[in-house]
Amino acid sequence: MPEAALQPRPALVPPRPRPAVALLPAPLLLPFLRRNVLQTWGEPAYRERVVQRPFLGRQSVLLNDLGGVRRVLVDNHQNYGRTATTDRLLRPMIGEGLFLAEGDAWKRQRRLAAPSFAPRAMDIVAAETMRGMDRLLDGFAGKPQVAINLLSLVQNLTLDIAGRVLFSQTMAGFGPGLRRLIESYGRAHARPTPLDFMLPHGWSSLKDRQRERFARTWRDYIDTIIEARAATPPANPPRDLFDTLALARDAEGGGLSREEMRDQIATFIIAGHETTALTLFWSLYLLALDKDAQARVAGEAALLDDASPEAVLVERLPFTKAVVQEALRLYPVAFTIVREAKGPDEVAGVAIEKGALVVAAPWILHRHKAYWEEPHAFRPERFLPGAPPPERFAYLPFGAGPRVCIGAQFALIEATLVLARLVRACDVGLVGRRVVMPVGVVTIYPDKAPPFRLTPRGG
Ligand code: HEM
Repeated sequence: MPEAALQPRPALVPPRPRPAVALLPAPLLLPFLRRNVLQTWGEPAYRERVVQRPFLGRQSVLLNDLGGVRRVLVDNHQNYGRTATTDRLLRPMIGEGLFLAEGDAWKRQRRLAAPSFAPRAMDIVAAETMRGMDRLLDGFAGKPQVAINLLSLVQNLTLDIAGRVLFSQTMAGFGPGLRRLIESYGRAHARPTPLDFMLPHGWSSLKDRQRERFARTWRDYIDTIIEARAATPPANPPRDLFDTLALARDAEGGGLSREEMRDQIATFIIAGHETTALTLFWSLYLLALDKDAQARVAGEAALLDDASPEAVLVERLPFTKAVVQEALRLYPVAFTIVREAKGPDEVAGVAIEKGALVVAAPWILHRHKAYWEEPHAFRPERFLPGAPPPERFAYLPFGAGPRVCIGAQFALIEATLVLARLVRACDVGLVGRRVVMPVGVVTIYPDKAPPFRLTPRGG
């Protein structure tokens, strides 16, 4: 991106893990895949078009070639499916929902889910986000919040908002239970073991059986929420995403079965709140380090009209939205998009074998020297209207092609409005100087939850 597009102010370069000194062979790589994948890529990965590194006897290709990314995610996407590892880690939580479904089952689900993410539904997202912020800020009662754990604050907030968007009822009853289950799955089961990488689709390890036991409790809990929701049917549907999903019909007039409904709800809860929470955490961390950018967000947010909470509000917050987009560039929560080749192919001049792992890594693409000026610097101006857009397929926080994130608008609207409302109300600062390192395992999360100070503005 040309330098002229960026404002001439010293750039904040937030901390990042040191790149690996060399390509690690698989046995040395495995522990890192459980600890921090971001440390496994060496400097060449940020310069080269294609990096090959055999992985446990399989061909494995990291693609920085944008035509290659396009071939895998768009032009020949039918040849590339989710990996056995992704399936193992996610199926216990999200079952046959949209994220893991393949082929015709996926097509049908995507059609049935589409109305839940249409513009009218996005107005519900905006309205629930604004209400969620009213409740949060009322709770602060104009007093400074010192040494608060901002990560858990935004996790609870996004879960509360997701719950209300889905069920138009408070998560107060179910929220803590949901978070406890999600966190306990994260702690006990979500880190991949060596067997998770080695076993093919359909094989089951002891760990998989433990995950399945956990899944029963999880499914029961989601069923309880659905039953509670069904006990209060709407007078004039649809009033939330639950109604939109329940009313959706496929070409034959069929809707989602009870199990499909449960898996879809679980998918939206899992895919839809932690990702946005982490994006908010990183945005706030960056703004705590860059007070000029924070002042600009506060100035823009001061003009926000709270009385018309619609999705269009976000378009009146171009700089705030650009902060979110830049945070998603530097800390793309979904930091790798991994596919398994169902058959042979040729991508970026490389012969791809059946079974090969093909990786487009937003973490690398977003910091690649060929595609970004000052790739490691925080420069929200890159995403302002009028700035040259990033090269196609070089910016993939939500993926691309038919399997692009269905909740991208949901997330952008929610994160932009939360950021605007929070920064308008409070100065966001860190308590002490804290270096927070990104850790990539399933998502990119902070190595520690640093204490923040929220000081009410103008009081
Ligand atoms: C900042 C927040 C978010 C990020 C960074 C994110 C990222 C992504 C990415 C990268 C993919 C594509 C994965 C691939 O191709 O392998 C994806 C898919 C998906 N996301 Fe999101 N997502 C976010 C928020 C949401 C929200 C709010 C929802 C729903 C409420 C959601 C639901 C889904 C679903 C269902 C899929 C699978 C779509 C399909 O396969 O057809 N996501 N997400």
